[in-house]
Amino acid sequence: MPDAAFADSFHGGGGHLSSKITGKVALCTSIASFGGFFSRVTWKVFLCSVIASLGGLLFGYDIGISGGVTSMDDFLMKFFPRVYSKKHQAKENNYCKFNDAYLQLFTSSLYLAAIAASFVASFFSRKCGRKLTITLSSVFFLIGAIVNFSAKNLGVLIVGRIFLGWGLGFGNQTIPLFISEIAPAEYRGGLNILFQLLITVGILVANLINYWNSDWRYSLGGAAVPALLLLVCSFIIVDSPSSLIERGKKEEGLNTLKKIRGVDDVEREFEEIVQATEVANRVKHPYLELLMNRNNWPPLFSSVAIHIFQQFTGMNVIMFYAPVLFQTMGFGGKAALLSAAITGVVNCLSTVVSIFSVDKVGRRWLLVAGALTMLLGQCVVGGILHVKLKSTNAVSHGISIVVVIFICLFVSAFAWSWGPLGWLVASETFPLETRNAGYFCAVAINMLCTFIIAQTFLTMLCSMHSSLFFFFAAWLLAMTVSVYTMLPETKGILIDEMAEKAWKQHWFWKRFYHKATGNFEQMEAKYAQTKEVELEKNSQSPVA
Ligand code: BGC
Repeated sequence: MPDAAFADSFHGGGGHLSSKITGKVALCTSIASFGGFFSRVTWKVFLCSVIASLGGLLFGYDIGISGGVTSMDDFLMKFFPRVYSKKHQAKENNYCKFNDAYLQLFTSSLYLAAIAASFVASFFSRKCGRKLTITLSSVFFLIGAIVNFSAKNLGVLIVGRIFLGWGLGFGNQTIPLFISEIAPAEYRGGLNILFQLLITVGILVANLINYWNSDWRYSLGGAAVPALLLLVCSFIIVDSPSSLIERGKKEEGLNTLKKIRGVDDVEREFEEIVQATEVANRVKHPYLELLMNRNNWPPLFSSVAIHIFQQFTGMNVIMFYAPVLFQTMGFGGKAALLSAAITGVVNCLSTVVSIFSVDKVGRRWLLVAGALTMLLGQCVVGGILHVKLKSTNAVSHGISIVVVIFICLFVSAFAWSWGPLGWLVASETFPLETRNAGYFCAVAINMLCTFIIAQTFLTMLCSMHSSLFFFFAAWLLAMTVSVYTMLPETKGILIDEMAEKAWKQHWFWKRFYHKATGNFEQMEAKYAQTKEVELEKNSQSPVA
């Protein structure tokens, strides 16, 4: 494709831009200036986002595969003989036949490892860049898949899960941030959701593999294929201009910015990044800054809350344990795996809806509508199981179809709302200086809650029976009210203008930007003063 070299003048969004196209082809034919920045999605940005999102594919694969293998007889016989015999005892209580702490540890150990890994990755990616962190994530995934494929006992199996957890931590900590940094503001939401889309593709592929293949080794070892793909492709992607400039590689950062924008005129965006990185580089202790500077509290509180809520929708109960749940209701092994695969298709297709609506409808409305729809799903499923599924019976064919339909409604609502938006909102609300640290808190809380759900669900199902679904329904009600009252809309706002345009405009959060008055505020003002002096000192020595 020849270079389309032409000079253009564009107006709009508060800026005027005269640009010479040097890149290959733009994905979007309408080229616009957004807030004075050249704004379109080039093939380079699109390709880099898709490649990075392969990390999401691996995340999804691991989520989807655990549910399938934990319901496979061969797997249970080899690693969890007690669960195997309990499952086949006719008089075992429906709700309790899979309840086993070790079985849950198999699923959940990955998420504990991921918390430690994302903490390390939050420093590593700041020092060594997003690209290398993504490469390393694929290496961890690859090792984990190989170890799991060759596992001879439960110990080795858990070691493999821990490697996968490190891959997950490095990937989840870096990929959504990387995409938000390279994406033009106008398309940030849609591009970022590619990560979630590939999570759902991963879950679906895992569901289908579980359905067609009954050998747990291939199911677990299968993760090596996308891991290898990510490893090879990670050498093709660029590093994000912000990360390059933050590490003192200004010229490389400028050239990368030109490459990914497909134009030579990137001075304004480049200057913005340089300014933001200079401020960021002067903040020596981002975690302290996050806690001591009240301006960081609104995005911190909201991102953490969104991730707790995301997990307490109950989505991972379906993702991890759908086959187990369907068997609990009396489905046969194959029917349970097929139903899980159906939820996988629904999950994947529904995510596409949010790619196209998030930058139009906005984050808030998708979150509110999503929570209400999921609330309906949980209540109906809980109600049906309460009436129809007692300790030892199986539900009728007709009823089981209704349950599958409402589970699909629930999954679909999660997929166009809380699933993708959890990652998106947390990656776009922090200023650069606390972006890595703040985002870590969101990822860590997500992994912790995923761990809690994975580790306790089977036990809770055994003791709470169908009331468990109403437990999640109560969370959904709380999150609807919280988002409606507490979350400002971030659609279309430049990443570095969030404080001004979102948080400071919000009826509640704006007080965190007011002048200091009380005791704590005085301490905080002192901290700000010390920081000022430090900034002053640093600005006298040249920034690398
Ligand atoms: C969540 C996962 C969930 C997946 C389902 C992600 O956004 O973080 O916990 O399993 O969506 O699609």
